[in-house]
Amino acid sequence: MTAVDSKALSPARIMEVGMAFWPAKTLLSAIKLGVFTELGKGPKTGAELRAALGLHERSTPDFFDTLVALHFLEREGDGPEGKYRNTEETGTFLDRNSPAFMGGFLEMANDRLYPFWGDLEEGLKTGRAQNETKNGGKGMFEELYSKPDRLEQFMDAMAGISVGNFQAFAEKFDFSKYKTMTDVGGATGLLSMLVAKQNPHMSCTSRDLPAATAIAKRRIAEAGLSDRVNAEPIDFFADSIPPADVVTMGMILHDWNLENKMMLIRKAYDALPEGGAFIVVENLIDDARRENAFGLMMSLNMLIEFGEAFDFSGADFDGWCREVGFKRTEVIHLAGPASAGVAYK
Ligand SMILES: C[S@@+](CC[C@H](N)C(=O)[O-])C[C@H]1O[C@@H](n2cnc3c(N)ncnc32)[C@H](O)[C@@H]1O
Repeated sequence: MTAVDSKALSPARIMEVGMAFWPAKTLLSAIKLGVFTELGKGPKTGAELRAALGLHERSTPDFFDTLVALHFLEREGDGPEGKYRNTEETGTFLDRNSPAFMGGFLEMANDRLYPFWGDLEEGLKTGRAQNETKNGGKGMFEELYSKPDRLEQFMDAMAGISVGNFQAFAEKFDFSKYKTMTDVGGATGLLSMLVAKQNPHMSCTSRDLPAATAIAKRRIAEAGLSDRVNAEPIDFFADSIPPADVVTMGMILHDWNLENKMMLIRKAYDALPEGGAFIVVENLIDDARRENAFGLMMSLNMLIEFGEAFDFSGADFDGWCREVGFKRTEVIHLAGPASAGVAYK
């Protein structure tokens, strides 16, 4: 490389990504400590905010000013009299009292994924999960299902990241030929509720393990949708999927190895009539595996959580579905890195 070439290059992006754990952990800590929820009650000076959150003196002014510089807080005035308040975005999405709160997933990221990702190199060398299971703990779902409050936190976290994709799917997919849908691994029943709201001719059933089904039943009743949306228990390893015109799975296939993925695709195929549709909502990786960095990192996250589980592309999905007997597939882009893979029987 010549001196001229090297002048045109900049290490800025390398530094930005290499040090991205600084802003990530600052934001995650602010969510966890309730900064945005506290400021949702009204603007506060640094001293007032620190006292309300129970933080040490050393935290101010650095912590709150860092959040200002990262554009997650605004500050009116400078110095000790300056008052911090939420930005429009943080007030909408990170104040726990806001109806659009979506901090649940990021709280889970702070509590679990952040420490587990510290062991990424070990995961890459061993191919083994780096979560609770590493030190003899239970698997992710067993751990969640043993603690009802953590289960509901996880379900809300999933709902927070899935709601935009599910709404886009409910709007973009043509349901006119179909009457019934079953959502396998449906958690709180969110996808079933959004599809039923958007498509008044559809009846939907959300199916998940019994503890999740109890949560979904409550949420469906609260939403006043019990006439067209139902929640029923299923263990998709032991049970077959009951018949439906459309079978959906949101972020399910990526949790498992290839053998279990194929078992689930076969069960979906068997549940459908001729012309029925099997749909996965996932962060589908682009076929050339060059662009969807979030989808690719989600797959690394599956290494951290499960070891052999992995994310996949639309082309992978097409190959697996054709092997099982589906006639054709298509990919519908939803929101950000997420897409729906659709296979027609
Ligand atoms: C990653 S979450 C996806 C939730 C939701 N579909 C979404 O996309 O937001 C995986 C779901 O699979 C469910 N699940 C795990 N093992 C299951 C099993 N053996 N039978 C049925 N559901 C299961 C979990 O309870 C959880 O709700």
